[in-house]
Amino acid sequence: MSFPKDFAWGAATASYQIEGSPTADGKGLSVWDEFVEREGKIWQGQDGKVACDHYRRWEEDVDLMAEMGLKAYRLSLSWSRILPDGVGAMNEPGLAFYDKLVDRLLEKEIAPWITLFHWDLPLALHRKGGWLNPEISNWFADYAKVVVDRLSDRVQHWFTINEPQVLLDHGYLCGRHAPGDTNSFGSVMQMGHNILLSHGKATAVIKGRAKKTPICGWAPVGSAARAETNSEADIEAARKATFSVDTANLNVWNTAWWADPVFLGKYPEEAYEQYGALAPKIAPGDMEIIHTKPDFYGANIYTSTRVRAGANGEPEWIPHPDGVPLNTYDWAVTPDSIYWAGKFFYERYGKPIVITENGIPIVEWVGRNGRVRDPQRSEFISTYLLGIERVMKEGIPFEGYFYWSLMDNFEWQWGYKQRFGLIYVDFETGKRTLKDSAYHFKKIIESDGAYI
Ligand code: NOJ
Repeated sequence: MSFPKDFAWGAATASYQIEGSPTADGKGLSVWDEFVEREGKIWQGQDGKVACDHYRRWEEDVDLMAEMGLKAYRLSLSWSRILPDGVGAMNEPGLAFYDKLVDRLLEKEIAPWITLFHWDLPLALHRKGGWLNPEISNWFADYAKVVVDRLSDRVQHWFTINEPQVLLDHGYLCGRHAPGDTNSFGSVMQMGHNILLSHGKATAVIKGRAKKTPICGWAPVGSAARAETNSEADIEAARKATFSVDTANLNVWNTAWWADPVFLGKYPEEAYEQYGALAPKIAPGDMEIIHTKPDFYGANIYTSTRVRAGANGEPEWIPHPDGVPLNTYDWAVTPDSIYWAGKFFYERYGKPIVITENGIPIVEWVGRNGRVRDPQRSEFISTYLLGIERVMKEGIPFEGYFYWSLMDNFEWQWGYKQRFGLIYVDFETGKRTLKDSAYHFKKIIESDGAYI
């Protein structure tokens, strides 16, 4: 089976993870610039000051994307490069960087899919209360205006916010990501509400001001459960598990709490009640702002849980089988994740699916002959893509697949320990090497998926 001709075959990155040059050309600091300076926060004391040096080597990077045959590239913009204080004066060189990058991508026929925010909050805004400040959704909308006015004559695909779940859990609950805060669960829920409002207001800006008809989405964590067998009972249990909100254990790891407001216009009612005083305060009109009904369901998917119907048909989570392949993060390789996620997300939200991230970190290096042999990654990509093929065979529309990541990069608190890229980066010299999997992906793209 071949994939649609206009399928978005892409790879993804994020500003702080690749750009480096944290103070170049008038850039303001972000929470990550500050966080990496704190002792003991990042593996081996590493930081993103140089990272892939993409801010200076972007032309070479676009050439490599073209060599791979990518049709689309998902990148995030650094808010504090564009607005050093998060609000107010615009920093022309910062915006010009993305402007010329977009031009070059389009010259190479690679569609830019822009994420407005991938965790690098301007430090100045954090100091004003960050996601807890009720003004933040207006600040975010103002930032969106600046970007949209400048780039929307050429950019058509937009994401607002990347993974609210990880942002809140790692950044604000357990503090292992910037800004390293450990807030109460109640305030994190209120921040979550402000994140949803920010998504809503920025989407309105994009829809209202874009010069080229925009296609809007966001990119939450795509948590879905896989059914242990194809029995109706197991499938129903996995469906239920996928959308359940575990209110007993105070955590932000679920799908429905985030996606229901955006796609269906309301928080899951039962969960909202169960949270009681911990539930976010909703002002009149908020849910209308949040209910943006994005044009596609974007999901970052790496692995998934396994569920079967237990007593009374209720979901029962079961461990992965002994010996399941694990990546260097110890996440199980579960190729059918995309099938189940795509099916369940489409059933509930009714929008075409886009895999906005999917990838694997493994142990690898440049061999004596200059090659990076990474057959596991090629196999990983192919088998996960089979899930897309399977779900498309059931008539579910699927519009794109973005491998995470275009290149090895700064993997947050793990520094350069985890390599996810299609391009190997030697972090001492900056030298790039296309891995074998990049050539594998190229063949898949060239054949419209037939080479899987
Ligand atoms: C999701 C995040 O969006 C990205 O920044 C991160 O590097 C990957 N997961 C891998 O952990």
